[in-house]
Amino acid sequence: MTLAPAASPVPSAARRVVAVHLDNVHKSFGAGKIAVHAIRGVSMKVHGGEFVMLVGPSGCGKTTLVSIISGVLDADSGKAEVFGVDWRSLSRDGQTIRRGEYIGFVFQQFNLISTVTALENTAVPLLIRGVNRGEALDRAAECLKLVGLGERTRALPSQLSGGMQQRVAIARALVGRPRVLICDEPTAALDARTGQQVIELIKSGTRELTGGAQDRCVIVVTHDNRIFHYADRIEEMEDGKIKERPSDLVMEESRRVHDYTLDPPDEPAPK
Ligand SMILES: Nc1ncnc2c1ncn2[C@@H]1O[C@H](COP(=O)(O)OP(=O)(O)OP(=O)(O)O)[C@@H](O)[C@H]1O
Ligand SMILES: [Mg+2]
Repeated sequence: MTLAPAASPVPSAARRVVAVHLDNVHKSFGAGKIAVHAIRGVSMKVHGGEFVMLVGPSGCGKTTLVSIISGVLDADSGKAEVFGVDWRSLSRDGQTIRRGEYIGFVFQQFNLISTVTALENTAVPLLIRGVNRGEALDRAAECLKLVGLGERTRALPSQLSGGMQQRVAIARALVGRPRVLICDEPTAALDARTGQQVIELIKSGTRELTGGAQDRCVIVVTHDNRIFHYADRIEEMEDGKIKERPSDLVMEESRRVHDYTLDPPDEPAPK
């Protein structure tokens, strides 16, 4: 199912790049009697410039689907292309290199390295790609400034609040200017207000870093209905499939006009 508000800034379908293309994707875990058929024939396109939310109840297959989109998991059958290249056509090394260049991740639990600073955490994707340390740290500092943490670059994760740690994770995801930004439950560990700030930042940070480019997209997995209305489009999953008709809740939430304005970051760091 697809919901696209009339005021969406996305250009007409004919002019848009297909960023993600899934065609009849299936994925099971285990075999025989204990097999779980997690993804049951999903077909979906995400175009460049789109901010898409993937919603649905726990266990319906959202994480599995974005893992296939990002090449972390191989589909059992069907096509999973990112910018025209099927993950299964690449070697393991080829997948890893392409993932580093094309995909940025933000997770529910931040997944920061606890022993290094916010700056070094943010620089990690660039260092892995072989960018020299000085340039990587400079670009990381720019990204931290973008997410409102320009003054906290030397802090360790434990010296930052949950919302701040998630902002570091967003900076880390954006530093390599990924073509596809994937966020899996980015607000689930945060209170309502911090969650709204984080989703706003994912939107504005992506726009800022990519200059509103039409050859990049954002996919946010969530079952947090408080943030549905930030999406350009919502895909709803149920039992391993994309639903053809939206549920009433999704219809209602996605139509709500949000009146939230992003204030300057003001959360205190934990003691
Ligand atoms: N590595 C795995 N091994 C076995 N089963 C798995 C594995 N990963 C996921 N599953 C199963 O696949 C189904 C889909 O799981 P998935 O994690 O994709 O759901 P989800 O929609 O992300 O749920 P949640 O909202 O709780 O994160 C579930 O039944 C889950 O138990
Ligand atoms: Mg999940």
